[in-house]
Amino acid sequence: MTMQNCRWVLNRFPDGAPVPECWRRDDAAVPEPQDGEALVRAIYLSVDPYLRGRISKAANYAAGVQIGEVMHGGGVGVVEKSRSSELPEGTIVEGFGFGWQDYSLQKPDAVRVFDPSLGPLHASLSYLGMPGITAYMTMIDTIQIKQGDVAVVSAASGAVGQIAGQIARIKGASAVAVAGSDEKIAWCKELGYSDGINYKTADDLPAAVKAACPDGVDAFLDNTAGPIHDAVMLNLALGARIAVCGTMDLSNRLDEPDMGRRFLRQILTARARMQGFLIFDHMDRFDSVRREIAGWAKDGLIRHREDIMEGIESVPEAFLRLLTGKNFGKQLIRISEGPGGIG
Ligand SMILES: NC(=O)c1ccc[n+]([C@@H]2O[C@H](COP(=O)([O-])OP(=O)(O)OC[C@H]3O[C@@H](n4cnc5c(N)ncnc54)[C@H](OP(=O)(O)O)[C@@H]3O)[C@@H](O)[C@H]2O)c1
Repeated sequence: MTMQNCRWVLNRFPDGAPVPECWRRDDAAVPEPQDGEALVRAIYLSVDPYLRGRISKAANYAAGVQIGEVMHGGGVGVVEKSRSSELPEGTIVEGFGFGWQDYSLQKPDAVRVFDPSLGPLHASLSYLGMPGITAYMTMIDTIQIKQGDVAVVSAASGAVGQIAGQIARIKGASAVAVAGSDEKIAWCKELGYSDGINYKTADDLPAAVKAACPDGVDAFLDNTAGPIHDAVMLNLALGARIAVCGTMDLSNRLDEPDMGRRFLRQILTARARMQGFLIFDHMDRFDSVRREIAGWAKDGLIRHREDIMEGIESVPEAFLRLLTGKNFGKQLIRISEGPGGIG
């Protein structure tokens, strides 16, 4: 009997917020690897905010998913069949090109081999993967966080934010978490954030940032844009550094102008530096940064939280949870058992 590959394809583009009907199941036979390819069985799939841009009609930094095409997405899995000498059977690989499906064909240059001695397999998509490495690169390279800095991190309890706050702490800075519930703020404080703001209940967000950072904000990891961005921009310290990393608040209007206040006077008077960040520009650093974060985790300096759903049928729901803040920690989906029970 032919083995089936359970797949989610794009059914229609969202009109505003995505809904489950944007995808439909379209199972197919498990594909056969050709020369140079390996067949990989997904163990965990990752849903990430950048995927919202991939199903928007607006121009983005990467080509979007077409109707009827398997939805994009990253994952970690095991090579089950191989016609590539670089990816022998049994190798654990992680990459951005898994798609929302059980099995995918991978070439060696599209995946990274993951060493399970660094951490559990799902870590390769979480604190030892794209989100953790983004937190590292934005805080250390873009923002150049240093001792004594007061940092603000938005989406602070999420995959990137939870690691960013701990990196600030490791480097001797203090960090203020901005997140969407008191439970998330409490978790951020457990991680070492010095203070927190629930942006959904704060009456006056600029005043809340001022109260948490009376001498101004030296470092801002902006994961959301929108009102949180505005509140921080009104509280910049002299020489502030801002990394524009994500735009959660714009998710459903990427093709519309981002209307709101302008902050050129604040940037000028604070002599602030604002820089956009994209992880895909830094893939050459992936392995070395991953090893450094793994070392911190082994030394007990980094804690992390994953929010794991079960089964390929859960993938669209997991993605919608992420976009609406229902996730608590890195959103993942467990698809199958790891080899020899590892996972
Ligand atoms: N530039 C890059 O290369 C790069 C790489 C990785 C990630 N990122 C960006 O980093 C950000 C965080 O990604 P992640 O993977 O760590 O996701 P995440 O924080 O685990 O999940 C997204 C979180 O965003 C928050 N959120 C949703 N809508 C919001 C809104 N309108 N205003 C404020 N917060 C909102 C929700 O938390 P609350 O409950 O707190 O609202 C939600 O849990 C995203 O913007 C993502 O695009 C960028």
